Amino acid sequence: MTNLRQDARAAKPQAPAAEVRNLLDKLAMRASCRDFDSSMIAPETLEDIVRDGVEAPSSCNQQNWHFIIVADPVRKERARDISGGNHHFAECSALIYLCFQKGWTHGNFSIVQSVAGACYHMMLSAHLRGFQCIWNAGIGDQAALREMIGLPQTFDVIGALAIGRAKSTAPKMKAPRRPVSEIFSWERFERPAASLYPVKQADTYPFWEIRNDSNPFAQWNPTEWSWDQIGDFRGYSVWAKSPLAGVYVSRRQGDALEAEHGLLGEVKPGARVVEIMPWGGTTTTVLLDRLGPDVRFSVAELSPNNLSFIEERLRREGNNLAHVTFDLMPNGKLAYADGSIDLVVLPQVLEHMPDPAAFLDEAARVLAPGGTIIASTRNISSAYGALWLETESKAQIPNQGPFTPLAARDVAAWIAARFEIVEECGIGAEATGDATLLTGDACHQGRLYAVRGRRV
Ligand SMILES: Cc1cc2nc3c(=O)[nH]c(=O)nc-3n(C[C@H](O)[C@H](O)[C@H](O)COP(=O)(O)O)c2cc1C
Repeated sequence: MTNLRQDARAAKPQAPAAEVRNLLDKLAMRASCRDFDSSMIAPETLEDIVRDGVEAPSSCNQQNWHFIIVADPVRKERARDISGGNHHFAECSALIYLCFQKGWTHGNFSIVQSVAGACYHMMLSAHLRGFQCIWNAGIGDQAALREMIGLPQTFDVIGALAIGRAKSTAPKMKAPRRPVSEIFSWERFERPAASLYPVKQADTYPFWEIRNDSNPFAQWNPTEWSWDQIGDFRGYSVWAKSPLAGVYVSRRQGDALEAEHGLLGEVKPGARVVEIMPWGGTTTTVLLDRLGPDVRFSVAELSPNNLSFIEERLRREGNNLAHVTFDLMPNGKLAYADGSIDLVVLPQVLEHMPDPAAFLDEAARVLAPGGTIIASTRNISSAYGALWLETESKAQIPNQGPFTPLAARDVAAWIAARFEIVEECGIGAEATGDATLLTGDACHQGRLYAVRGRRV
């Protein structure tokens, strides 16, 4: 230990004064809002928030930031449309576009760091004034936006701060934080393995080669991830959105899901049902509606952060949760006794697992004799599989975590080795979009492969 470190150890911890502690506690209560009540905020107040924000430091004190306040309802609607689905852009009181002047960007993205500092300062100002905010990098098509706000080419826009008042029904939950001990270390880098996301081996990882739509280092293969790493990744990133009704739903997905659930058959009252790893609960709400309140339903996930998200989301969908439990499945092991479950549902999750065949053993263990397994999987032997190989797998992995589509025939063989196959089908003849049902030999060629097995 250096003398300096010894000196530091000798220093007495210093608690903040009560008023400072109160202020810090209040700041810590800030949480993103994506459900605004469409009310107005006075222009003077919005200007004051910007005024507060520019007390932030800036690189070389150049203050080369520029903030464009958009409060006109027609422009906010246009902003929503350009963003490609941020409904809160139209419902907030105002958007503050975060811009900066190019040409003096300096090293290490200093200008971006400066704009970020000012943005957060504005957020805290708005929060202390009793408003809610959401900071968005997802602002949509740059050219359309540039035209809407009249931004010259010498400036860039990198985000938008939406400010408003939350609807009284908006979620009050804050996205979970990692334990702080996980995200700092003294003097040298150190971090628990579960929070290190696997990447492809390389000597260096040049920043400019890593983009959302193109990431040569992204490790899509879940067999290169541990269960803990997968759980960690999925559990934090599900909170990229608020647990609102309808979150993470797309119509296309809905059609395919209906076809998957078409395999369910009759589920008797009192049956014990487990849905495995539904991430944000999009499939759960549909399944609960379909099965009704007479089954005993469990959601099994890898992280408590998924479970809290799904539970809140289901409440907001109007689901009655009296018959639902939320259970962890650490290391892919289910918390249920042998032979205690009547129906296990795996909604496109085998391809997310480090060892899908081993998980099917686990499903067989918990299923009662005569019990049912419904599994669906993205199929590599399909037009979608070709698209995945060609395009999707070259991008960043999605927030649902790493996955690699499986071969329908392999999944069919794994199921057949443990269960009696009762029914199987392919879903989707095209690479994306359709939910055409494929039967007979063609069932192994659809975008999705779905199967119903019976535990003998
Ligand atoms: C740089 C940045 C960009 C963000 N972009 C988006 C976005 O495009 N859409 C969105 O819904 N949330 C966005 N967020 C909000 C984060 O999802 C949110 O801050 C995070 O989940 C933590 O939740 P909290 O703000 O409630 O603490 C962004 C946050 C930051 C800091």
